[in-house]
Amino acid sequence: MTTKAGDPGAFARFDLDRVETPAFVVDAAALRRNLAVLADVKRRSGAKVLLALKAFSMWETAGITQAVLDGTCASGLWEARLARKHYPGMVETFCPGFKAQDLPEIAALSDTIVFNTPQQHARFRELLERSGETFDVGLRINPEVSTGEVPKYDPAAPGSRLGFPISQLREEHLSGLSGLHFHTLCEQDFAPLARTWEAIEPRLADWLPRLDWLNMGGGHHISRADYDVDALVRLIEGIRNKYGVSVYLEPGEAVALDAGLLVGEILDIFDNDGLQAIVDISATCHMPDVIEAPYRPALLGETETGTSVRLGGPSCLAGDVIGDYRFAGGVPTPGQRFAFLDQAHYSMVKTTTFNGVPLPSIYLWDSDSDKLERVRSFDWTEFERRLS
Ligand SMILES: Cc1ncc(COP(=O)(O)O)c(C=O)c1O
Repeated sequence: MTTKAGDPGAFARFDLDRVETPAFVVDAAALRRNLAVLADVKRRSGAKVLLALKAFSMWETAGITQAVLDGTCASGLWEARLARKHYPGMVETFCPGFKAQDLPEIAALSDTIVFNTPQQHARFRELLERSGETFDVGLRINPEVSTGEVPKYDPAAPGSRLGFPISQLREEHLSGLSGLHFHTLCEQDFAPLARTWEAIEPRLADWLPRLDWLNMGGGHHISRADYDVDALVRLIEGIRNKYGVSVYLEPGEAVALDAGLLVGEILDIFDNDGLQAIVDISATCHMPDVIEAPYRPALLGETETGTSVRLGGPSCLAGDVIGDYRFAGGVPTPGQRFAFLDQAHYSMVKTTTFNGVPLPSIYLWDSDSDKLERVRSFDWTEFERRLS
């Protein structure tokens, strides 16, 4: 996958020696910048915008994100609990498969529950009615319009398990629903959303006026400088006016885009068919998308000339390799700090302690005031507690 973000912004002047490593450093000012873009979309389009916790759930920053956003979207019971405990605003919970024993609590925590199939909705309808809680029910549909670069990140790819295929959607499936939800994008601009909407609008046009809302999911790279915000505003306004529904977006990346570093340290360096550096950041433990996507994270201060060094983690996994990089100051030496850009989203939420590799600390920096605060650090007991 090609990296579309990676603007260092104020991190270009952040002194990496201010933090212990490994460490995530999130810039509050960068979050506020992204949120200003989302606030503008909300104001001009009338859309409601939820934070996708799966991407970014550093709840210490809830005061910043929820000053603008309308709530959160959760991926199941645990995120719904996190949402209710730490984030103001509404909670929408979608899971591809709910468990019966979780649903009463999910119903108590959520304003909206979105099912992946009408079959699950039908199976749990009575149980939910008995819960006595008040909430909306929605259905995630699969538009069957593939626009993604990588099939692994394309919920609309043929044979997808995510969302009920729109070609199978019938009027009877809408019984008991307040809205429809679709999510098919990943780090995309406006054009793929427009293509998706053009394809599904004719199929939904008769039903939408009977519903309260339409949720267009996440994956919209709205806060990226080249995103066509005006076109998005026009589309949302058009849908609201034509069908009388509320329109929701639930971005994750767009909230935290280019807002975080992962800072590490060079531990050792030697030659084996090129320079190999062992670092205290692990791809598999700290940035699993590097291996899963795969993608190559951008290095702060990277240059195009000079000797290339392969950076790899301290784990036993041969494939725990982050990539080949050229450092501005020449070949790095043990003890030297470095940082990967754009690590606030989908890294902090995915860390593991495989091999007993320590979890990165979490710092909040405000590049406007230069205030730096270590909001969380993890010790060995965190590793011990997860095993038995
Ligand atoms: C249902 C749903 N909503 C929202 C999102 C957030 O997407 P992004 O972080 O790319 O904006 C995702 C991401 O996988 C998702 O699956």
